[in-house]
Amino acid sequence: MIDEKTTVLKITDLHKSFGNLDVIKGVSMEVKKGEVIVILGPSGSGKTTFLRCLNFLESAQKGKIKIDDIEIDCAEKGVGRKKKVTELRKKTAMVFQNYNLFKNMTLLKNVMEGPITVQKRCREEVEIDSKKLLAKVGLGDKEDYYPSQLSGGQQQRGGIVRALMLNPSVILFDEPTSALDPELVGEVLNTMKNIADTGITMMVVTHEISFARNVATKVIFMADGNIVEQGPPSQVIDNPQNEKTKKFLNLISEK
Ligand SMILES: Nc1ncnc2c1ncn2[C@@H]1O[C@H](COP(=O)(O)OP(=O)(O)OP(=O)(O)O)[C@@H](O)[C@H]1O
Ligand SMILES: [Mg+2]
Repeated sequence: MIDEKTTVLKITDLHKSFGNLDVIKGVSMEVKKGEVIVILGPSGSGKTTFLRCLNFLESAQKGKIKIDDIEIDCAEKGVGRKKKVTELRKKTAMVFQNYNLFKNMTLLKNVMEGPITVQKRCREEVEIDSKKLLAKVGLGDKEDYYPSQLSGGQQQRGGIVRALMLNPSVILFDEPTSALDPELVGEVLNTMKNIADTGITMMVVTHEISFARNVATKVIFMADGNIVEQGPPSQVIDNPQNEKTKKFLNLISEK
């Protein structure tokens, strides 16, 4: 059967090193619209670096990144590169482990900031949309709170709304629940599931296996800067083939 879904993200032979430490060693993958990719892998395998390269918080030295119809050759230099990076950065939004909300701004201001300053959207319209989305994730009564007055789970749901407000083609999540107290993990995962259900394309680094099993369309296992195994959760999680995947899954199931 021909898959007619559009490709949102295409990565070809991506390489990233820090000094002489090779961290991403030739990763290629394709993500279709509405897919939820869960990335698993041991600490130091390059998961965060990979997401940061896709969001241009880090610049990869080699390889191609294509989002929607814009492609950049990472080795490219000069003015053309800068313009493309600016365009590509608008196509992704990142949800960080430590929420990264601005401490001196209320929750509402935090989620309105990007669309107004970066996207130059009309303030009134952004405010209406922000309030709607905050209410949707159960934060309708917290708009005027500062981050320090919110629980970790509330801050992270705010972080997710902030990402959504940028209307990105792909949302990148880097261990969004790992800084949370265990009792707050569920509410954030639930919010993420609801977002996935709306058809938004997501790439999620997480160790939450049940989320991967229930929500992921594809699981990628990364080790030592490469994708060593990938497939539907039923395959990668329940019937892993690679020794490194097996070892990792055994380790986290013991926790
Ligand atoms: N800015 C940097 N400068 C130098 N080395 C870095 C930098 N960022 C990451 N690294 C190195 O790159 C490797 C991969 O790090 P990365 O944070 O991508 O791993 P990870 O898979 O996200 O790990 P974790 O599960 O612990 O978050 C590590 O060896 C790390 O020390
Ligand atoms: Mg990481």
